[in-house]
Amino acid sequence: MKNITWHNTSIGKKERSSIKAQKPCVLWLTGLSGSGKSSLANAVEKKLFEKGYHTYLLDGDNVRMGLNKDLSFDEASRNENIRRIAELCKLFVDSGLIVLSAFISPFKKDRDMARALLDEGEFIEIFVDTPLEICEKRDVKGLYKKARNGEIKNFTGISSPYEKPLNAEIHIKDYDFDENVELILRYLEKKGFLRA
Ligand code: ADX
Repeated sequence: MKNITWHNTSIGKKERSSIKAQKPCVLWLTGLSGSGKSSLANAVEKKLFEKGYHTYLLDGDNVRMGLNKDLSFDEASRNENIRRIAELCKLFVDSGLIVLSAFISPFKKDRDMARALLDEGEFIEIFVDTPLEICEKRDVKGLYKKARNGEIKNFTGISSPYEKPLNAEIHIKDYDFDENVELILRYLEKKGFLRA
C-alpha cells in the first residue's frame, strides 16, 4: 500500500495469548436468519467464559447497529459487512481472544476471504444448517413474513442467495441444542484450544 508502513510491535499475538493461557481462534457461525447462530454462539461463549477463557462475541444484528450501520443488504454491502467483520476477527485473534462470530455470511467467497486472513487452523467454520422451512416457520423477528410480502428486499433464502459451505469444520444439522453446544466444545478440545 502506498505511503503506509507496517509497524512491528514488541507485544504480539503470542504474548497476548500466553498471558491469557489460551490459543486464540474464530468460531465463524454461518447460516440463514433464524437458524440459531446467535443462540448457539451465546451458549458456547457462556461455557467458555465459565471455564475461564477470554472471549468476544460478534453478532450480525448488533454490529449492524454500530460499526456497520451504514451498510444494507445488497451483495456489495454484505461483502463489505463481512470484510470488516473478518478484519475485526483478525484483530481480536491478534489480541489473544477466542472470537465467536454470528453472521449470515451467505457468500462463499466472503467466508473464504475471512479464512484466508487468519493463520492455519484458526478459522473454524460452523455451518448452522437449519432448513429454510424451519427458519421461516419460527420467524422469530417476523422478517420472513415481511420478505414474502415484498416489504423487505434481498432477503436471504427468499430473494437473495445463501451459498452453503461445502467443507465446514463443524456441520450442525440436528436440533438438540445442548448437544450442538457440546459438539463445538468437543471440537475445540480435540484441536487443542482448551486447557487440559
Ligand atoms: S450478512 O448477510 O451481511 O452476513 P448479517 O448477519 O450481518 O447479514 O445480518 C443479518 C440480520 O439482519 C438478520 O438476522 C436479520 O435480523 C436482519 N436483516 C434485515 N434485513 C435482512 C435481509 N434483507 N436479509 C437478511 N437479513 C436481514
